[in-house]
Amino acid sequence: MTLSVFRQGLFTNKVVFITGGSSGINLGLAEAFGTAGAKVAINGRNTAKLNDAVAYLHQKGVFAAGYAADVREYERLAQALQTVRDSWGPIDVLVCGAAGNFPSPAVGMSANAFKSVVDIDLLGTFNTCRAAFEHLRKPGACVLNISAPQASQPMAMQAHVCAAKAGVDMLTRSLALEWGGAGVRLNSICPGPIDETEGMKRLAGAPEAREKLTQVLPLQRFGTKDDVAQMALFLASPAASYVTGGIFPVDGGQSLLGGAVITQAILGG
Ligand code: COA
Repeated sequence: MTLSVFRQGLFTNKVVFITGGSSGINLGLAEAFGTAGAKVAINGRNTAKLNDAVAYLHQKGVFAAGYAADVREYERLAQALQTVRDSWGPIDVLVCGAAGNFPSPAVGMSANAFKSVVDIDLLGTFNTCRAAFEHLRKPGACVLNISAPQASQPMAMQAHVCAAKAGVDMLTRSLALEWGGAGVRLNSICPGPIDETEGMKRLAGAPEAREKLTQVLPLQRFGTKDDVAQMALFLASPAASYVTGGIFPVDGGQSLLGGAVITQAILGG
């Protein structure tokens, strides 16, 4: 973890709550906020993975705790948020990162398969924002919804994710309108192909898919978790105090291309 543009201590005594924080981009965000001084609560549905992630963060010197809950289960999630607030005080930064994905043509998925992804990504984001609202620091809190290029780029084999993430971005914008008066900012971050993530393993795990995707990306490389963390730290910092309702790609220029180009590169569609 390098915090190249942010001094350590920028988030000292801030409280950060991250769903889907046991792995990938979200664990990278937990480490970044923690390294910058925040107390970090991570949520995940798999207790063993969650415990491993908390142990990893402790090893990195991060003040962290884990809260097991499925973002589809409102009551358990609300309880986790209440506990964090009671223990550490109001939440300064809320990251809605829990997500699910698998590549499949629409006719290859059941209604329940489609619903699973919409429920984790979209309903889960709503549940987290809704349950957290009373616990957010007002004024001053920042919500970061982790979206994806699929929100604006139609892609074959990704109908469920495209629909869910488009909803996430519209939720970001709608809540930014509603909650601006309370001093709460909301923004979406859309990470493109980021190395060492479950999503990329599922979508472009094969070396030839990775190579093809690298070739079509304007910046000609995969991103890192640090690349996403730098955007998150900026958006959550006072430097972005006039920024709300935005959708921010961190994708090496993927969003400049058509979804079909990406589909062909990574899925051979
Ligand atoms: N193709 C088609 N259908 C699939 C599928 C695939 N590759 N993988 C799962 N499904 C279907 C299941 O068959 C089931 O439908 P059914 O009840 O009609 O049989 C439905 O999806 C739900 O599957 P289940 O495993 O019970 O759901 P879950 O809630 O435990 O898991 C998923 C959610 C499906 C999104 C799973 O992929 C997951 O847990 N992902 C988390 C990790 C992840 O995706 N990370 C990347 C984030 S970008």
